[in-house]
Amino acid sequence: MKTDSRFKTLIKSTNDVNFTLFGEIVTVPKGTTLAAAILSNFGEASRITETGALRTAFCMMGVCFDCLVEVDGNPNIQSCMVLVHDQMVVKRQIGLRSIGISKDD
Ligand code: FES
Repeated sequence: MKTDSRFKTLIKSTNDVNFTLFGEIVTVPKGTTLAAAILSNFGEASRITETGALRTAFCMMGVCFDCLVEVDGNPNIQSCMVLVHDQMVVKRQIGLRSIGISKDD
């Protein structure tokens, strides 16, 4: 179910960035943090915890870790701490990330 965001950006820019956010192409002004882009484009949670709880950006300053997303295949990225760039692919993070250790390690 898609929910409209209650957040709207007030910045108008001629220098925009296009990237893929949760499967949709999104355009935001250059210099926008990923968390701000998520909040201004989606009203849904940006991650789901291992217990199924919905989370999205809260503190916007790198403290709460509720804004974790997968960026370009890399999990556990704090969306409030990175700027959006062209061709970035952002996916919703679901559950815990894999730590990449096999039984042979
Ligand atoms: S919003 Fe709290 S760490 Fe990103």
